Order: sequence, then C-alpha cells, then structure tokens
Amino acid sequence: MSIAVVGSGIAGLTAALHAHETGHAVTVFTKGALGDGCTPHAQGGVAGVYGAGDSPAAHAEDTASAGAGLSDPDAVDVLVSEGAARITELIARGVAFDRAGDGTLLLGREAAHSAARIVHAGGDATGAEIARALTAAARAADIEIVEGAFLVDLLLAERAVRGVRILLDGVVVDRPADAVILATGGAGQLFAHTTNPVGATGDGIAAAMRAGAAVADLEFVQFHPTILAGGAPFLISEAVRGEGATLVDEDGHRFCFDEHPDGELAPRDVVARAIARRSARQGSPVRLDASALGAGRLAERFPTIDRVTGQRGFDWSRETIPVTPAAHYLMGGVVTDLDGRTTLDGLFAAGEAARTGVHGANRLASNSLLEGAVFGARAAAAAARASAAITSSAMDLRVGAGSDREHPQDAGHAAAAFARETLQQLMWENVGLLRTDEGLAEALTTTRAWQAQAPAPASIAEHEDANLLLLAAATASAALARTESVGAHFRERSLIGAR
Ligand code: SIN
Repeated sequence: MSIAVVGSGIAGLTAALHAHETGHAVTVFTKGALGDGCTPHAQGGVAGVYGAGDSPAAHAEDTASAGAGLSDPDAVDVLVSEGAARITELIARGVAFDRAGDGTLLLGREAAHSAARIVHAGGDATGAEIARALTAAARAADIEIVEGAFLVDLLLAERAVRGVRILLDGVVVDRPADAVILATGGAGQLFAHTTNPVGATGDGIAAAMRAGAAVADLEFVQFHPTILAGGAPFLISEAVRGEGATLVDEDGHRFCFDEHPDGELAPRDVVARAIARRSARQGSPVRLDASALGAGRLAERFPTIDRVTGQRGFDWSRETIPVTPAAHYLMGGVVTDLDGRTTLDGLFAAGEAARTGVHGANRLASNSLLEGAVFGARAAAAAARASAAITSSAMDLRVGAGSDREHPQDAGHAAAAFARETLQQLMWENVGLLRTDEGLAEALTTTRAWQAQAPAPASIAEHEDANLLLLAAATASAALARTESVGAHFRERSLIGAR
C-alpha cells in the first residue's frame, strides 16, 4: 500500500525509511531538495542517555521540568525509553557521531540538562551529518523522491486523508495515497528574527488545519537565546554556554544570575527573556564571552561557529560577540497520539509539525532531533498498519478548505497593506518573547483583516503567505486565550521591545 511522506528532515526521512522497510510503497515529497529544512541547521545534537550516573528517568525529569509541567508524561516516557534505539539506528545508517579516543560517544552539555548527554557530530554540525546520512539512505532505498514539491493541501475522502495536492514546476498535481505522514517542520518564518530557514512557513500544519485536523499549543514558540546579532541569522549553539561561555552586559556583569540560579544554563526561555530585557535596557545587544575556552578548543569543538564568526569579523577566542534571541522552535502543532495519529483518519504527523505532548510549554535542548527520530519511526509503523487495512479503491477526493477565510467580518479593519515582512515584524513585536493583551489583540485583528483581503493563492509564495497568515491568527488567538505565563509563553502588562 502507498504512504506519502511530506518533508525530508530527520522525522520525514526516518518515517520514510521505516515505512519502506515494512514493505510499503513510499513517496517523499519535499519542498526544496532532499534533506533541506531545519535538520541540517541543528548544531547542538541529540539528547542521549550514555553518561555515567545518567538515566532515562533523569532525562524524563529534565524534559518535563523544561516543559513547565505541561508535557504529556506518556509521550516523554516514549521519548526517553526509545531514544537509545533510534540513536543506535542513526549510527547504523551511517551517522558519524563524535567519539573519544577509546571509541565512546562524546557527550556535550546544554541548558537545563542535569547531565552531559548531548551526542554530537562534526563538533557543531550534528544536523548536517544526520541529513547527509539519512539522505544517502533514502536515495539508496527504493523510495520515490519528489523534490521541489510544494504541499498545497491534503486530499480527503469523507473525513479520511487519502493523498496530497502538490504544486510541482508550476503545475497542480493530485497524488492519492493510503496514508500521509506530515513532517513539514515548524513556522519560524512567522517572525522577523528566526533561526529557521526561509522554507519554514508552516505549510503542513496549515494544510492539516484546513483539512480539519486538531492543532494545539501554537502559543508555545521557543526563542533561542543566542543568535549572532547583525547580519543574516546565525545560531550560536547552547552547547557553547554548556562548555562554559558566559553572557555579559555592557558592564561585564553576568546578568543571567539575576534571574535564575543556573545563570546562563537556566531554561532557554528564561535566558532568552533575560537577554531581551537587558538588551532593551542598555540599548544594544548583550555579549557572549567564550574566550576562556581558548582558540584551539573553540576551533575543534565548534568548527562551524568558529568559521562563521571569523567571516563576520570576530575573533571569539579573544573578544565577546553580540547575541540576541530569535524564534527557534514550535512546541505546538498538529495534535497526535503516541503513534503519530492525528485526529483525521489516514493523517499522521511527526517532528516539529506535530504536537506530541513531549515538549509541553518549552522544549529541552537537543530533544527535537530525538523526537523526530522516535516519533517518525512510530508514525511510520502506525501509518503502515493503517494503510494495510484499507480495502476500498474508488474514492471521491476533495481538498480540505476549512480554515482559510473564517473571519470575513474583520475585512474592514484598517490594517497596513500586507507584506510578509510586515507580518513578521507584527508577530515579532506582539507575539514574541514578551506578550501583552493589547499586542496580541492587535496582531490577531490585523492578521484576520489580511486573511480576509487576501486573494486566492496561486504561486508558492502566495500559498506560503496564506499559510503564515492562518498560523499567525491561530497563534495570536491561542496566546490571547492563555492568560497565564507558562514556559515559553510570557504575558506581561506592558510591552518591552526585544531589540
Ligand atoms: C543549539 O545548538 O543551541 C540548538 C539545539 C536545540 O535547539 O535543541
């Protein structure tokens, strides 16, 4: 039977390989080239329980604690208990994780982990190495790969998902399938400042919403604390702070300790807000000081960051570098059970597109690649079982179109003309690190007005804009509805600009 996988990061390629290995005909549709997306940008690594004295229970506790009490304990249990098998599988598929001289895996440390447990590759090029190995494995397998395929919508027969409508070389093509696994990543492009690549426009989540699938926790957007300030967004891995780098204000003061006893290794949302507030107060970016690590160690452990900071004119072994937060990861998404099943028959989701419940209100560092591998494999197994059970062949297929234009009453709001950059700035200012009632209401009203005025999308850019608008309105709405501060969702009375 046939399974369509949309997306080709770690979740999509793990799902595709597992579905293929169970004997199903698998097609991977990917918006760019195979292996594009967020996975190759991941620096830190994969959380794995290998250290002396570490345990899955400790990893579970750290995950739940980062999630601010809103993680689903069953999902966390699956993540930590199946993580080791998936890391072993990655190694078997050719991922060369960094090892000590005696062959044991080297383990890095990141914020809010109670132990050193981050398995990494190429120092700070873990995602690129995983993407390389999984891409090679997918190409070597008998998996159909359709690159440059933009997901327009899901195809429905009654309430079951039975394929995808894609835009390929300017032509709309319907591709029926017995089951569809969405692994399309998140929507970092909702925000003016993000670590995500330009393709992260929430296409899969938006298509699922139009088809009627439940989504949840969209208000939980994680902002990474340390992006190199100025120029194109470039992540400075949390692992750098894990190795001992500090954050200082203009007076050289380690201000993170003013907010949390763990200082620079406090949960990511705490550090990101501390940076935003301090930068706003002093009117310039705060600085990361990694100089104590020394030039040799920095070049060996963080070769990518060493190269890029050098290209940007910094010698970070001798001077501090300016850093600022940026949107990084969406904890919410398409609601799934522990096997990646969504609320629609035939539709599965894994990776950042899915809301498995693992992350709660805030994701623990280096749990995202792990989640993609663990739940990508489980979604594939469930999709394979579901598609094997399908008997009917003749289907009347239609596309989901539920949520595109649900707010025509807002068409009269006097919003500035829509442009993607205007939306991204609106979201950054009003639905960013520090949120107020007024700001969220303004974002919601404006995005709804833009939605109502938008023409029917035809080009890929127009479809992406429609998806971003749909998600922007849903995110602002979810953030308005959650009146308390929890995890990455922080409400305050008056807006403090983050930049
Ligand atoms: C990082 O290297 O800081 C990012 C890792 C992550 O987002 O889990």
